[in-house]
Amino acid sequence: MKTIVLFGLVLGALCAAGKVFIAEVGLKVTLECGFDRRQNVLEWKRSPSTTIWKILGKNGYPSKGKDPIAPRSALSNTHLVIKNVKETDFGTFTCFVDGKSNEHTLIVVTVPGDQNRVLQVGASDILECKVNSPGNRATVQWVKPGGLVLNSNKVNLNTVATSDKGIWQCKVSQEEATFTKNITIQIKEPDPEPTTPGLKKNPKSPKSENGNSTSGGGVGIWDEDSFVLLGLVWWVWVAIGAGGLIVIILIVVIVVIYKRNRRKRREFLRMKLSQKPKKYCQCVRQTAAAKPQQGRRREKPSALPLQPLLQE
Ligand SMILES: *[C@@H]1O[C@H](CO)[C@@H](O)[C@H](O)[C@H]1NC(C)=O
Repeated sequence: MKTIVLFGLVLGALCAAGKVFIAEVGLKVTLECGFDRRQNVLEWKRSPSTTIWKILGKNGYPSKGKDPIAPRSALSNTHLVIKNVKETDFGTFTCFVDGKSNEHTLIVVTVPGDQNRVLQVGASDILECKVNSPGNRATVQWVKPGGLVLNSNKVNLNTVATSDKGIWQCKVSQEEATFTKNITIQIKEPDPEPTTPGLKKNPKSPKSENGNSTSGGGVGIWDEDSFVLLGLVWWVWVAIGAGGLIVIILIVVIVVIYKRNRRKRREFLRMKLSQKPKKYCQCVRQTAAAKPQQGRRREKPSALPLQPLLQE
């Protein structure tokens, strides 16, 4: 029994030298070798067995290996620094220093989409935390703004609600390595109805808010967006006013034209009447005496100025 525990402790101590590193796609990660000093050889290899970097001899120059990571990486003391991490970079990395070695694990996390999102109530979205790890041993969770933990790497927000607002955290862990990525969600309220904002947002007087929202009450409310009177936005009143003005102008014009026409007709008639006798007098002498008399009688009530002339 004792030997098993001891064996376990020794194995644990050996394994502890190998570390787990978690990197996010596009960023930089530093893999620590675990041996800080070297006398002679330093080599970083990627499983199965491709060399990334190698130095031979105490004053030797580093030489680049054939692994696709090599061009994006550099040595820093005994550490391997990988820039612009790619999804396919995950795996097992071994560093060799003077005959000793440590096997490390690199996990790569991809969180597609924006880190800050503005979503409409009722919209849908997907929160994903893609994890590439050797043997898929990493644990992935999403922590909701309220603190609720979802044991999944993917969250389908089918109908976004106000309660979804806040920081969503993707948590990846394996052994003592942990990684957190925050996604901040802001919720946009749906656009309000065009006529309601003035009534809704009346800020300082709750009394008048009640009166206005129910009946309108004949009180106007100034608002940042619109002036509302009797439940109508200001420009509706302007339109009504302009329409009324046009109607009034039309009526005035019609009345003026009508009156002018009547006056002209009366004048025309008067002219005709005053000319007729002259014509008859000049041209047809026999009938001239009779016809004007009929005209005179008809005209009596309306054409007063003619009377004295006719009576003569
Ligand atoms: C994520 O959010 C938590 C709190 O909500 C904060 O403590 C933490 O620093 C944030 N992490 C990052 C990487 O921004």
